Order: sequence, then structure tokens, then C-alpha cells
Amino acid sequence: MTRASLDKQPHEVAAMFDDVAPKYDLTNDVLSLGQTRLWRKAVVRAVDARPGERVLDLAAGTGTSSQPFAAAGAYVVPCDFSLGMLREGRKRQPHLPFTAGDATRLPFADGVFDAVTISFGLRNVQDTDAALAELLRVTKPGGRVVICEFSHPVLAPLRTVYTEYLMRALPPIATTVCSNPDAYVYLAESIRAWPDQPALAARLQKAGWSKVAWRNLTGGIVALHRGVRA
Ligand SMILES: C[S@@+](CC[C@H](N)C(=O)[O-])C[C@H]1O[C@@H](n2cnc3c(N)ncnc32)[C@H](O)[C@@H]1O
Repeated sequence: MTRASLDKQPHEVAAMFDDVAPKYDLTNDVLSLGQTRLWRKAVVRAVDARPGERVLDLAAGTGTSSQPFAAAGAYVVPCDFSLGMLREGRKRQPHLPFTAGDATRLPFADGVFDAVTISFGLRNVQDTDAALAELLRVTKPGGRVVICEFSHPVLAPLRTVYTEYLMRALPPIATTVCSNPDAYVYLAESIRAWPDQPALAARLQKAGWSKVAWRNLTGGIVALHRGVRA
């Protein structure tokens, strides 16, 4: 069994996702009490992919976050560095062009995507700033980014309940549905250590993204950050 630590060594992160791949989507639904589906709908609305547009879904895992863009008529490229997640994705969604690639060295030319998006992936990338710069590089001028990531609840009571739920309940519940409950210890730790909403917005701006803004979902448990390539 593999779990990553907070230094997020790429081989450990990839191996951890290889381990959880078969039960990844089921575990997500159970642990988020169904909220994942609402968060995914919000991402799809924010990206607003049009028929024929090219969309990069980075850290796409099994492609669950990619499928809605294909359904909207866009040409979506799911990209991930866990071969286990990609294999599981290809089994379930053979029509999608799953691509192996590291977020910090994307295997795409400059300026090829109308929109780039990453759901629950950026927090796991060792070098966040390199990934934000790579996303910018592969986006066309005028193109957009949408980042969906766990964040920090804005109201103190929710923050307390959430921290208790997250830190205490997550790993034991994960034991019942998941092949690698240790991965969910990493999940809790990495969420706690992740920058809050304004700090992530500042990182996007520093990477060169314009018109950066965010919207909280479920009181800030998740945040959607967006930006535009000038
Ligand atoms: C929690 S899953 C999210 C999958 C999918 N986006 C979703 O919403 O269900 C995180 C994914 O990020 C991928 N990942 C982490 N670091 C990466 C990197 N440096 N390059 C590419 N993928 C990475 C992992 O392999 C994993 O599949």
C-alpha cells in the first residue's frame, strides 16, 4: 500500500493513485456524501465548453471530470501521470483520448487549448507554480482556466465541524470502501496544508493569469478559481 507524504514526491503520488484507481469514484461519492456530483456540475458550468472547443482536463484520473466536456461537444483531452488511473479511465470511457503526462511538463504545444481545467489535482502536484505556468503555456490567448480544489470553509462553525469530520472520520470510513485507506490520511493532511482562497488566487496571478477570481462551493469546502490568458 502506498500513500504520499506532504513533500508530494511524484512517484509516490502516482503510485498512491495507481492503488486507489479501481475504487476511486465510488470512494469519492461515499466520502463526500454525494457533494462531488454538485461540485462537478459547477465546474462544467464555469468552463462553459462550446462544441468544437479544445479542453484540457489535467489530472483527469479516471476521466469522470472529463466526460461532461465531451458530452457538451468539446474535444476534451484527459491527461494524468498515474497509469493506473488512466487504465481504469480507458476501460470505462474508451472514446476519450486519455494521455499520459506530468502537470509540470505537459506533452502539448504552446497555445493549443481554448480552456484548461483541473479538478482535485493541483493540490497533489509537487510544484504548484510550475503546473500553473504550464497550464498558461498550453492555453490560447483569450482562453480560460478553471481550478476546482478543496479549500478552507469561510465560516468558523463549518470550519470546526469540517476539520473534525475530515481529520477523524475520513480514514475510518475510507477503510470500509477503499483498498488504500492511508491515501485518505494523505487527503486530509494535504487539504489542511493547502493555500486558502486568496493565497491560491495570488499564485494564479503570479503565474501570469489575468482576471483571477474564485467562488466558494459548500461554504468553501471547495473553491473554483478561474482566470484568463491575456
Ligand atoms: C483526486 S484525483 C482527481 C481526478 C479527477 N480530476 C477527478 O476529478 O475525479 C487527482 C489526480 O491527480 C493526478 N496527478 C497528481 N499529480 C500529478 C501530476 N504532477 N501530473 C499529472 N497528474 C497528476 C493523480 O494521478 C490523480 O489521478
